[in-house]
Amino acid sequence: MSTVIEIIQADITTLSVDAIVNAANNTLLGGGGVDGAIHRAAGPGLFQECAALQGCDTGDAKITGGYLLPAKHVIHTVGPVWHGGEKGEPELLECAYRRCFEVAQLHRVKSIAFPAVSAGVYGYPMRLAAVIALSAGLSAVVRNPGLERIIFVQFNEGAQQVYREAAARLGIHNI
Ligand code: AR6
Repeated sequence: MSTVIEIIQADITTLSVDAIVNAANNTLLGGGGVDGAIHRAAGPGLFQECAALQGCDTGDAKITGGYLLPAKHVIHTVGPVWHGGEKGEPELLECAYRRCFEVAQLHRVKSIAFPAVSAGVYGYPMRLAAVIALSAGLSAVVRNPGLERIIFVQFNEGAQQVYREAAARLGIHNI
């Protein structure tokens, strides 16, 4: 079974997949952006489970149930805040994606959807973040043969175009 990489424009909270990824903060207690949208859609059960996890390091990931979401699980990751790119941001963002895929494999996730982690409030330039995200997807295709779908979700047309250009540069064509 080969893994399909998809690039779509959508609200990630509407997707019926095994896991959606949340671009969270170190507290895991919610916030704005996609984090706020996921907590609003999932309901208070998600907040309660997150509160018991005692936070998450930058570059790490932790899994919870999906509660009222159509997705079965939420994998919460914390990307780096952009400080110009010389403070380990690329390595931390790569690590965040890698940990999401590792956690997904442990839970036998077959379909996973990612927002553009760090590319909103945390200020990571979308063009650079898209290359890291898609490269991590390519690595996961090799490492996790059980994975059937990797979906990169953008909230607007401009971000989607950036992802499509990055995918073309990386030679990803099955999108
Ligand atoms: N579906 C898909 N993508 C979305 C959605 C959605 N419903 N909502 C926003 N995006 P951000 P970060 C896009 O700021 O940069 C929170 O307060 C958005 O357009 O959500 O990692 C956390 O608690 C952008 O492209 O995440 C942290 O404090 C991308 O998701 C902090 O923000 C990520 O934007 C994390 O910042």
